[in-house]
Amino acid sequence: MQTTLIILKPDAVQRGLMGKIIARFEDKGLQVVGAKLMMISQELAATHYEAHKARPFYAGLVRFMTSAPVLVLALRGNNAIDVSRKMMGATFGFKAEPGTIRGDYGVSASYNLIHGSDSPEAAQREIGLFFKAGEVIEYPRSGDQWIYDTSGGKPE
Ligand code: RTP
Ligand code: MG
Repeated sequence: MQTTLIILKPDAVQRGLMGKIIARFEDKGLQVVGAKLMMISQELAATHYEAHKARPFYAGLVRFMTSAPVLVLALRGNNAIDVSRKMMGATFGFKAEPGTIRGDYGVSASYNLIHGSDSPEAAQREIGLFFKAGEVIEYPRSGDQWIYDTSGGKPE
């Protein structure tokens, strides 16, 4: 089981797409274990995207991510990181496949609706950046016995 950090970016919040996007993840079987509507500070945006600091799009990316509220989610599930990255689709909306979130809801390169951690190390780091201790809640979900085969002792 993995927990991943998802950000519904300012365009997703402003366009009223939060519910539709969360529904896709819930329909898939991923569990919301953390959720927070917030403004991202300059400092947090810079830390979160520090790997892109030298890239030409960096300043615009930080401006965009700090321009309006975002919804930050922690999603838990079997292979949650890969599963959610596949559901997000390619970075640019105009390249993302239909059936993916970016492919179905956007055509922009920069305003691409959603961020998702791209590795277990990134997920751990990003969850620590956006959630305080106790804000991610691991709770049993009724119905899990029909989402996972637990007959072997662990969710498959
Ligand atoms: P993210 O980190 O937001 O989940 O997106 P990603 O892995 O698919 O893409 P990444 O390469 O990490 O880029 C981070 C964000 O920077 C913006 N971007 N703009 N205009 C451009 O050439 C460009 N390239 C990247 C996007 O908002 C992208 O999500
Ligand atoms: Mg990325």
